[in-house]
Amino acid sequence: MGLLHTITVKDTGVSFSCAEDQAVLPAMLRTWNGPIRHGCCGGGCGVCRMRILSGDYVAFKPMSAAHVSEAEKEEGVALLCCVQPRSDLIIAKA
Ligand code: FES
Repeated sequence: MGLLHTITVKDTGVSFSCAEDQAVLPAMLRTWNGPIRHGCCGGGCGVCRMRILSGDYVAFKPMSAAHVSEAEKEEGVALLCCVQPRSDLIIAKA
């Protein structure tokens, strides 16, 4: 397992650990019964769309342009099944 980072969900009091070699969505699903539904886990359905408010991350899978535009990507909107953390992150509903 890679280096662990802490992911905090703003305004919920929820945080969980996610390794650098792991997508954020499965780490979140393992630890939190919040309002995140389990979708395709492949970047196509948009169910896991959230905004990353702070921290560094990489998109290791392509995100469907139907769910995240280029402009939104620049603002930190991401599909959590497609991103891996590179630092602690603060995320919120997009
Ligand atoms: S779960 Fe479908 S895009 Fe992430």
